[in-house]
Amino acid sequence: MVPLPSLLLVLVCLSGSFGQKDLLNKVFAFPASSSTAAVVLHVSNQEPLTKLTVCLRYYTLLTRPYSLFSYATRSSSNDFLIIRFNPDEYSVYVGGSVVKFKVAPKEKPSWDHICVSWDSTNGLVQFWLNGEPLPRQGLKKGYTISPEASIVLGQDQDSFGGGFNITQSFVGEISDVNLWPRVLSLTGIRMVRHNIDPRDPLIKWKSLSYTIKNEVFVEDFLVPQGV
Ligand SMILES: *[C@@H]1O[C@H](CO)[C@@H](O)[C@H](O)[C@H]1NC(C)=O
Repeated sequence: MVPLPSLLLVLVCLSGSFGQKDLLNKVFAFPASSSTAAVVLHVSNQEPLTKLTVCLRYYTLLTRPYSLFSYATRSSSNDFLIIRFNPDEYSVYVGGSVVKFKVAPKEKPSWDHICVSWDSTNGLVQFWLNGEPLPRQGLKKGYTISPEASIVLGQDQDSFGGGFNITQSFVGEISDVNLWPRVLSLTGIRMVRHNIDPRDPLIKWKSLSYTIKNEVFVEDFLVPQGV
């Protein structure tokens, strides 16, 4: 019988060169505008997607455009993308098409929690801002997001794994990034917001495989008062 520690060591080696880290109570800090700083996320299961939900938390002082979550494939650099061009809206891309979600401008900057889901069956995109659903909008009904993604935080990819533009780079802090290959229920979304994670994510903040490119730092989550 193989002793457990050796078995674990073998499993760790088999999982490749990317460590898996529990980033609970951590953030990625993006200190400045940049055309190179980014975090690349690695997913072991590279299946095509007909449904997904992405949730994350972020805090920025930016008023210019910035990309939050860029999922590029060989068929589309915007196969799935969450990006802000204006402080009063979010743009969500699926397969290169876009829907925009208007939001009230914030009185003062603070952490925001967002979840975005898409379902190929009806094309509906759900957008949740701090646990509240916005009216659903649809796009790309019947579409399939290609396998083999290049997944990047902090930059918009205009090509597979690159084509970063400093004018859309993120500055601030990002935390609690998760992706599920399905549409989460209302209960699921509310759980995620409180860091209780629904089962079987493809990207899991509490066990994240990632590579940092250039100036991005893993730091403690500084919990604001009143949260
Ligand atoms: C970056 O984006 C700006 C604004 O959209 C554009 O004018 C500029 O050409 C882009 N730069 C690169 C290197 O793509």
